[in-house]
Amino acid sequence: MRVPFLNFDAQHQPLKNQFLNAFEAFLDSNYYVLGNKVKEFEEEYAKFHNINYCAGVASGLDALYLALRILNIGKNDEVIVPSNTYIATVLAVSYVQAKPVFVEPEFITYNIDPQKIEEKITANTKAILPVHLYGQAANMSEIMNVAKKYNLMVIEDNAQAHGALHSHQMTGTFGHINATSFYPSKNLGALGDAGAITTSSNDYYEQIKMYRNYGSKVRYYNDVIGYNSRLDELQAALLLIKLKHLQEWNQERNRLAKKYFENLKNLSDIHLPQTLENNTHVYHLFVIRCPKRNELMDFLKKNEIDTLIHYPVPPHLQRAYQHLNFQKGDFPIAEQLADEMLSLPLYPGLSDSQIEYVCEKIQAYYGS
Ligand SMILES: Cc1ncc(COP(=O)(O)O)c(C=O)c1O
Repeated sequence: MRVPFLNFDAQHQPLKNQFLNAFEAFLDSNYYVLGNKVKEFEEEYAKFHNINYCAGVASGLDALYLALRILNIGKNDEVIVPSNTYIATVLAVSYVQAKPVFVEPEFITYNIDPQKIEEKITANTKAILPVHLYGQAANMSEIMNVAKKYNLMVIEDNAQAHGALHSHQMTGTFGHINATSFYPSKNLGALGDAGAITTSSNDYYEQIKMYRNYGSKVRYYNDVIGYNSRLDELQAALLLIKLKHLQEWNQERNRLAKKYFENLKNLSDIHLPQTLENNTHVYHLFVIRCPKRNELMDFLKKNEIDTLIHYPVPPHLQRAYQHLNFQKGDFPIAEQLADEMLSLPLYPGLSDSQIEYVCEKIQAYYGS
């Protein structure tokens, strides 16, 4: 049985006519940039989060970068980031010329360990940038407490956790400005690149709208040195259609995750993902930790099961960051996770029999 890592058919095929109609309306509208669909999507996405404002931008990386810029973070400033994250989180900090300061993750959630943040705070620390990896919220109550104590800004990277909850509050609503990505594979994915920020501040919202559009509030009048990073009008129209299904897709992700738990719980060799008591997971990815990970990956591949590693090299060991002079061993938890983690296929449309087949092969690999 073939099990691809990702397939969009179950999400997209039933919506195909709506997508085509949306394209036709877009074409006929004669209005292709920052039109009504962007506005409508921003309103709906903000409403979904129960937050005042959303502003669409071109990508998740741009959302992070613009958030940092608007919070005036720049040269000589330090930003606390998790040592286990996708590179975009760290790149955004570099773009504003600030220094990324890595903090190790918790073993149980793979997210930044709030207990280890305080020891990394210096006089130059300006912000904490927690990432809700794999679909689970970082421990935002504790992170917000540290931020308050030291008067730091908080920017959430919510690219991987659309609809996740921490203490009944949605991720993407805790920080001063929160960034997200609608890269196609995300829980809410566009059919191309797209991103957004959410905020409860009217001032930040107005600034993002200005910065994303050449620093201009009034056409051809430029107040700041802005950027071109607008949410594409067509992507907004498609995202509006998909947003209506996000909760149902997240529920399906949870149902599929449960199947994995049921079928793998007897295997003492592997660590299954754990959810903090006050979190609701949305399983952007189903990440296990396992011995002989690369061999397992090869074995599954031979059985037509695709898996991925998120991520094989932590940011501090990437060649792009060799100038920071980190060595192997500097962030041992992130490094261990990079060596042991494996993402199994999980997406709406994956069938129960496909999951059972994946689990059967994992069981066979570990000889039980
Ligand atoms: C945690 C995280 N942050 C940021 C990004 C960047 O988003 P984008 O690819 O839309 O720039 C991604 C995904 O790609 C991500 O997974």
